Amino acid sequence: MGRAASGAAAVAVACFTSTPEETPMPQDVSPDETVPASVKGPDWLPPEINRAVAHPARVYDYMLGGKDNFAADRALADAVTAAMPSAPVMARANRAFLGRAVRYMAKEAGIRQFLDIGTGIPAAGNTHEVAQAVAPASRVVYVDNDPIVLLHARALMTSDPAGATAFIQADLREPDKILADLALRSTLDLGEPVALMLIAILMYLSDEESPRGIVSALLDALPSGSYLAISHPSADFSPEEAADAVAASERSGISFTPRTQAEVAAFFSGLELVDPGVVPVLAWRPDGIAPSDPRVVYYYGALGRKP
Ligand SMILES: C[S@@+](CC[C@H](N)C(=O)[O-])C[C@H]1O[C@@H](n2cnc3c(N)ncnc32)[C@H](O)[C@@H]1O
Repeated sequence: MGRAASGAAAVAVACFTSTPEETPMPQDVSPDETVPASVKGPDWLPPEINRAVAHPARVYDYMLGGKDNFAADRALADAVTAAMPSAPVMARANRAFLGRAVRYMAKEAGIRQFLDIGTGIPAAGNTHEVAQAVAPASRVVYVDNDPIVLLHARALMTSDPAGATAFIQADLREPDKILADLALRSTLDLGEPVALMLIAILMYLSDEESPRGIVSALLDALPSGSYLAISHPSADFSPEEAADAVAASERSGISFTPRTQAEVAAFFSGLELVDPGVVPVLAWRPDGIAPSDPRVVYYYGALGRKP
């Protein structure tokens, strides 16, 4: 962990787009510390939310300094951080990559429609906020399979009146269902370019679940000029830490598959890769001064354009 840990402070300074304090999360914690304070009332917890079991969205929320997580989520996040001390720093670096990727697609590529699958619990710099800061008429469809994400997203992710946001509870493993959803169809025009965003989600699909086939099915429904944005954790950087983190995740019942640079590049087969290609997220068009060692964050990031 030496190199990663020593690089953590530098990464924190170099790449964070937000601090926990800036994150628009409810900050008051319920007396029952397993209850997110933002969700109140006698029927506060929809029955499909099982707080006894860790879920990726809430683990990630905890890593980002949010409050919408339960004891099981925090236990897993702590176990992952014990295995990989820079994990919270990496979550923030990934989030910063999301912001730069959306800004690039909105500003440089002129994209006005976004399909963000694996939304996450709202945090600073959500996709529609970044896109609509460039082009207020941007339209964003958020998809996540965690009901708690949708609960918060519907409440907090309000669109600029010139644009639109929509929310779909669905699983990435069912691309046809996502594409057929009425909320998607009434928000996005699939005759016009769309940015398909799969930011820190594909690792939850094993190779047996055919993630490349799923990405292809989604891209097939989008026209020429559409973009694919991916970030993905990898064991290339520190195989031992990655193995320990994967083991911790799988002990909690969350399948986790890091992928090599070549495996991440394979998702972009048939697309035109945007410079600088498939690189550590810190090296992907950094804001300001490039970090001296981008390999301290164990995520690859890339964008591709459908010809
Ligand atoms: C690590 S978070 C990433 C959030 C956000 N994309 C980001 O990078 O800041 C992963 C998100 O993907 C969602 N997710 C995981 N597996 C999923 C699946 N099979 N279908 C839909 N969403 C999924 C989780 O609920 C969580 O909100």
